[in-house]
Parts: sequence; structure tokens; C-alpha cells
Amino acid sequence: MTRYLTSDPERFELVELPRAAAGYSFADDVLVGLTAPKKTLPSKYFYDELGSALFDAITRLPEYYLTRAETEILNEQGWEMVRVLGGPVDFLELGSGSAAKTRILIDEALRAQETLRYSAIDISAEALRSSSAALVERYEGLSVRAYAGDYFTLLQSGALTFDRPVLAMLMGSNLGNYAPREAQALVSLMSGALRPGDGILLGTDRKKDRAVLEAAYDDSAGVTAAFDKNLLGRINRELGGHFNLRAFDHVARYDDARGCVESFLVSAVAQSVRIDALDTSIEFRKGEAIHTESSYKFDDADIAALAQGAKLEVRQAWYDKGKRFNVHLLTK
Ligand code: AVI
Repeated sequence: MTRYLTSDPERFELVELPRAAAGYSFADDVLVGLTAPKKTLPSKYFYDELGSALFDAITRLPEYYLTRAETEILNEQGWEMVRVLGGPVDFLELGSGSAAKTRILIDEALRAQETLRYSAIDISAEALRSSSAALVERYEGLSVRAYAGDYFTLLQSGALTFDRPVLAMLMGSNLGNYAPREAQALVSLMSGALRPGDGILLGTDRKKDRAVLEAAYDDSAGVTAAFDKNLLGRINRELGGHFNLRAFDHVARYDDARGCVESFLVSAVAQSVRIDALDTSIEFRKGEAIHTESSYKFDDADIAALAQGAKLEVRQAWYDKGKRFNVHLLTK
């Protein structure tokens, strides 16, 4: 672990987990995924600089209601979330990104208590550096400890310590991008890092009408298609790939038995694509798909089962007015 002391070490520290421990190897994952019988690419690779900017644009699309619905819940009911554990708390957020929505809860917490320690974990050290610097400048009572790396590695490391009760957060439907077994493992690991009296806020998207869900993941302006195809663009840029992005179509389908929107890049023609850094060519049949993302949706029973699997209790649930999205508080 590398610790970076910043210009104000009292209020902002960045801890970078070693890359190997974070399990990062784009080339290995691309080779394994594209040579599997059912081709796949891990969705965590969406978020390079361009992908993060495209995701930011997605959050403002008319069809992608998730971010607006969660922001509505935090604006209307955030005051209660920061008080529900019954005293001053510290925050631990997984996947904080730009921390834009977290600001709503930081505002509320600093109305209820004088100081707040915010521990933020994100894969991107750059996002953490810029969002943390802005946060400590904006809030006098705030100190930030930022961890750059993989959630699973950090939660298991024992490096997280807290002086006060903790309100942990996994928001923005991020849990939905994990397969059910991994999602359960992640919530259980979070639970294991917490003490009795601590809580976890989970922001998840609800199961709903297929047309609404499929439009949210295949918008009419084509931004989500560009976001999906950026995976191929990234292979071209970083691994010397020769993908023609126009020879693939973005497809999003809701599988209601599994409660999950599946995204694919479908080859429009039979083609062979060379990837120089892997010294290989990948063959595609016409209509052959690369699975790129699963976005799971949760009803109250799904959340209750997750909580039970992690030995937690569902203390409270908050909904937006349209009941499209929700935030649950699970306690130890
Ligand atoms: C980041 N994650 C919760 C988004 C989701 O809804 O699954 C990623 C995304 N993919 C397509 N649109 C948005």
C-alpha cells in the first residue's frame, strides 16, 4: 500500500493499493473473454476517461431515470438517513466516483454533526484525487481518506478502521453490476468490516416494466451504444486492436426470470479482428454476441434475502415518488 500525504494531510490522505493486488490485467481479461465459447468482456473496463465521460452523459439521458430517481430520494430523505443510527457517524463509500450524490448526504451529516470522516474507495486514483480535493475545500468539518483499488481487496485487508459508528454506502445501482453470488459476497464482506450499530445504505434499481428498462439501456440518442462500444475502442487504443465499431450493434434485453438487463455487442457480419498486443485474431460469426454487462434489478424480497445472507437486518427503505428506485438501510 502506498500512502500519499497531500497538501492538507490532516484532512486528506490517499492510499493506493498495489495494482497486482487489485487484480488489474486488461490484456489477460480480454484474451480470456474473447476466446471463451460464449464471448464476454468484463463491464469494469467501461470506465476509462472516455467511458467515464459517456457514463456521465448517460446519467442525464431522459430514458436513464436511475440517477434522477436516486438523487430525488437523497434530496428528500437524506436528512433521515444520516440520523437514523442515532448519533454522529462516519461515512464509508464503495465506488464513490465523482461523489456528486454523496455531497447531498455530506451536507445533511454536517448539519447534524460538526465533523465527518469520509472514507472513499474507488478503482480510479485520479477520480478520488480530484473529488477529494474539492470536497475538503468545500467542507470545513470534513476529512477524507481515499483508497484507490478493488473493494474486495480492501475490505479483506483489515486496513479500514473507524472511531465512530459507520454509515457505509453502495449506491447508484452499483451492486446490480455483480452476478448474484458476487453481490452476496460483497455485501457479506461489507458486513464483516462493520461493527454492531453500523449500517449499510444500498441504492438499487427496482424490477419493473420491460419497455422502461430496455429503453434505459438502449437510449434513442445512442449514448449507451457508444458507451458499450467504447470497450472495443479501448481494446483498439490500448492493445492495438482493429475493431471496426460500426460492424457491431449494441443490444439490451431484460431477462425477467433473472431480473436483469443484459447488454451485448453483436457482430453485424462474419469477421476476423486482429489484436496486435495479444498476437491473435478473434473470429466472429454474423450475429455472434459479446456479453458486456449485467444490470440486476431488485425488489424488497431480493434485498431481504441479501441482508439475511450477510447476517444483517433491513431497518428501513426509502423510495422515489415513482417507486422506480430505492435506498435500503441494512444494519448489524
Ligand atoms: C454503473 N452502473 C450501475 C450502470 C447500470 O445501470 O448498470 C452502468 C450502465 N450501463 C449502461 N447504462 C448504465
